[in-house]
Amino acid sequence: MVKATVIGAAGGIGQPLSLLLKQNTLITDLALYDVVNSPGVAADISHINTPSVVKGYLPPDGGLEKALTGADIVVIPAGVPRKPGMTRDDLFNINASIVRDIAVGIAAHAPKAFVLVISNPVNSTVPIVAEVLKKKGVYDPKRLFGVTTLDVVRASTFVAEAAGQPTESLKFRIPVVGGHSGVTIVPLLSQCDPKVQLDQATIDQLTNRIQFGGDEVVKAKDGAGSATLSMAFAGARFAAAVLDAASGKASSVHEYTYVDLDSEAGGKDVASKLGGNLQYFSVPVTLGKNGVEKIHPLGGMSEYEEGLVKKAVADLGGNIEKGQSFVAKSS
Ligand code: NAI
Repeated sequence: MVKATVIGAAGGIGQPLSLLLKQNTLITDLALYDVVNSPGVAADISHINTPSVVKGYLPPDGGLEKALTGADIVVIPAGVPRKPGMTRDDLFNINASIVRDIAVGIAAHAPKAFVLVISNPVNSTVPIVAEVLKKKGVYDPKRLFGVTTLDVVRASTFVAEAAGQPTESLKFRIPVVGGHSGVTIVPLLSQCDPKVQLDQATIDQLTNRIQFGGDEVVKAKDGAGSATLSMAFAGARFAAAVLDAASGKASSVHEYTYVDLDSEAGGKDVASKLGGNLQYFSVPVTLGKNGVEKIHPLGGMSEYEEGLVKKAVADLGGNIEKGQSFVAKSS
């Protein structure tokens, strides 16, 4: 029995993500919560003949509590997306309090759930959730994930295109580490598997495209939001990975995700390589029954990539601190 809850389920990401989670046969209960329209989305999706029972919840009458109670996995795409000209950090003022309040609900009603944060700015919203769970005494760093899978998916697609190969998912596995905004997104093209030969101009161009791929979508949508469909694909893929590992369906699940380095899973080595003080970073992890089982080293990097990591670390410190101090100042 696996209960999955989507918070923000009626949104641009929430709807297709809920649809994709309905196709995951490990899930037996699918709870869809939003401040608007979730009963309609739930009624629609519930007609699909896969195992999970779908229910929609709204805020009145303890909707958040009902949606969260008993949840094994909570996926959060709630909040506002970017418009042209905005950075992810510009979303902080609105999304920080939305994510904080959802985290309060998780602490009370689903303290053992795996929590997957999609809401931007991920670099700051993950520390917000962590700080709330810490305040409530239920924080387990191995169960909290910032979803950066879209960066990995984009890297694979863009490199396949540049190499003139079919863009089938995961043909090219490229580590993407760091954070989830602009220069904090660090693709390690030198570790591409299978190897690709790229000249420096192409590496520059691909790196920039992976870092700012989200802007292509924001621009093309022209005011109607940011990536939703590719994000739903990436979010469902990452949720499936977490569930496959937790259920024992798959024995060695390898993913990239933005996590607390200060966990028993071995993040301290990565933190010390990054200069010692950084608490969150997107890293290669092995997932297991209890979430992050092992945090792996970043691996060999070219000089160019070392430079990218330095820039990412410089930006990330402030993003993390912003999230942490937001919760410290909240009553
Ligand atoms: P959207 O505006 O289409 O949907 C957001 C949904 O959240 C809406 O249905 C809204 O009613 C709901 N919502 C607002 N406040 C809520 C609350 N307190 N509780 C529950 N639901 C609430 O936005 P979209 O496009 O789905 O994006 C959602 C978030 O995901 C944005 O912050 C966006 O920046 C982020 N995002 C993250 C990506 C990543 O790679 N991690 C990629 C793309 C977007």
